[in-house]
Amino acid sequence: MPVKVKILPSGREFVSEGRSNLLEAGLRSGLALGYGCSNGNCGECLARVLSGQVENTRYHDFRISDEQRASGHVLMCATTPVTNVVIEANEASDSHDIPFQQISARVRGLDFVNDDVALLHLKTPRTKRLRFLAGQRVRLGGNGMPTASHPVGSCPCDDMNLHFQVARNPADDFSAYVFDALKKGDPVDIIGPTGDFVLDESPTRPVVFIAWYTGFAPVKSLIEHAISLDTTAAMHLLWFTPPGADHYMDNLCRSWRDALDNFHYVPVNAGSLAEPDLGADSIATLMNIGEKQLADHDFYIAGGESIAAACKTALNGARVPLNQVSLDTGTSEGV
Ligand code: FES
Repeated sequence: MPVKVKILPSGREFVSEGRSNLLEAGLRSGLALGYGCSNGNCGECLARVLSGQVENTRYHDFRISDEQRASGHVLMCATTPVTNVVIEANEASDSHDIPFQQISARVRGLDFVNDDVALLHLKTPRTKRLRFLAGQRVRLGGNGMPTASHPVGSCPCDDMNLHFQVARNPADDFSAYVFDALKKGDPVDIIGPTGDFVLDESPTRPVVFIAWYTGFAPVKSLIEHAISLDTTAAMHLLWFTPPGADHYMDNLCRSWRDALDNFHYVPVNAGSLAEPDLGADSIATLMNIGEKQLADHDFYIAGGESIAAACKTALNGARVPLNQVSLDTGTSEGV
């Protein structure tokens, strides 16, 4: 039977079903709970049960002292709620609360969705997963391969399966290696996470995601995170692609649009333009609103420094406050 879990001091709540432990259920619901190994070894997920019943469902090496046990402390990765519970636990409030990590992962999948984009799936060891916030980046490479910074293109709710979208770029050694040499099973080091391109969960304003081609990766992570939070704010996704390029995850975007009442998806091809027209009037037209209403939204823009900067300037010119515009500028503009 589903039970309700309330986390203090934040007051956030989520529902846990089946045999999920507190940590798994919390991450799936979009909470940035404090944890390390997910496996009962490190003690970083230690939390205190303030009310309700829980059950220890996994052997753990980490030793909880008698005093801690007497005051209700449990390991969230080894404990399943039996009734509605209130738990006192650590949560990350921003990117500074996420530890810098180094993890040796393996290539689980490498899928070339078209001539210019590779979808890279890395899998971490079960006992060393990546703790990160949606929208953050990591450095990939090592083991004889070049290194590069890439945004994680998947949700922190699955910290073992990490997805990346790599654009073909002959001037980038990492990209060339991915397209020409990398294969399933190869080791890849993950170092990070870094970056502040993360969702501000406090405002209730509608959110607009603007992605330029593979800038879709961090945007996808943010959208999946917003979905796991069950946010009620409306979301708009404007995904621009270069001339002749396709929206290589169009079906996923359409499935969001079909499943969510508050999700609006507009795929845009730049047509004959080398770069998309990201003037405030164009953005407002694509969103089907008046230009004056842009200031009622929060904007997350990813996919190339000059494009993102031009977009930010245009929005600011339309009286959108700068603190309502977040940029991820590290994604390659080229294809
Ligand atoms: S996350 Fe390490 S003991 Fe729970």
